[in-house]
Amino acid sequence: MELDKILGIEYPIIQGGMAQISDGEFAAKVSEAGALGVIGSGNMTGEELREQIRICKSLTQKPFGVNLLLLSPHSDHMADVVVEEEVPVITTGAGSPAKYIDRWHRAGIRIFPVVPNPTLAIRMERYGVDGVIVEGNEAGGHIGDMTSMTLIPQARDRVNIPIIAAGGIASGRQLLAAQILGAVGVQIGTLFLSSTECPIHAKYKELLLKSKYNNITVIGQIAGLPTRMIKNQMTRNYIMEEKKGKDKMELERYTLGALKTAVETGDLKKGSFMAGLALSQIEEIRPIKEILEGLMREYREEL
Ligand SMILES: Cc1cc2nc3c(=O)[nH]c(=O)nc-3n(C[C@H](O)[C@H](O)[C@H](O)COP(=O)(O)O)c2cc1C
Repeated sequence: MELDKILGIEYPIIQGGMAQISDGEFAAKVSEAGALGVIGSGNMTGEELREQIRICKSLTQKPFGVNLLLLSPHSDHMADVVVEEEVPVITTGAGSPAKYIDRWHRAGIRIFPVVPNPTLAIRMERYGVDGVIVEGNEAGGHIGDMTSMTLIPQARDRVNIPIIAAGGIASGRQLLAAQILGAVGVQIGTLFLSSTECPIHAKYKELLLKSKYNNITVIGQIAGLPTRMIKNQMTRNYIMEEKKGKDKMELERYTLGALKTAVETGDLKKGSFMAGLALSQIEEIRPIKEILEGLMREYREEL
């Protein structure tokens, strides 16, 4: 896998940006451990993002990234902040990065949008991005329609830029499978949630260890914005109301701030405990370095 060489890091692994979770300190720890740590900007303001970037830079000299959700009302300001703070890598989600690409490239930033289908991968290639992260719907958080098994090869056949696979990857075998399907590296979210260093509430981590694939559900399949998470009271209420035909705006009362609630208070009833289908493969909470070494060891053995 070549992503390590492309990004100048030790392992061909990106830690997926996670709003409310992957702050500057966590991203720095991931980068120090040899993958690419990514700050999840979520709904931060530009200045809040600047603070997290500075924390990250004070803790590591290694490359790191920032994930920008481009539907944020603060996107234009954040687009300036990443240039001013000399962020080496940007991943984008929720919206098009087109209008920022020239400026970011002039600043030497490498750009990797996250896409859920080959059509968007083709569009991003036309915009001149450096690669695409294709995310299968096994992933935790907001998801598209395609599975990694179908998405990675179909994107590979349609674009010439590097492809990074995301969604459902939590073992060296899956790293190798992603490579065979056409990826130069992988992006991982759920497995990083289970790291010792991940700044989520202890109850979130306990729930990760207790839950299996059959404890996972997707809300928003009817109302829009499908999101994968662990089943609880909140998801049951949401899905019941969704089936009654309530629209996305009405349903927001369940989800607004629910990820923050899960991360900060571990409220098992009201929180949104986002996690992907790879959850069943997680058996213990381990330091980031151990997780990464385990993945690479298994990858090499399988190879
Ligand atoms: C708790 C959680 C929060 C996430 N937040 C974001 C986000 O803010 N922006 C984004 O682009 N992706 C987000 N993702 C997706 C991850 O960056 C990553 O692509 C995904 O987790 C990969 O699939 P996996 O969970 O199967 O490893 C989130 C995922 C999780 C589990």
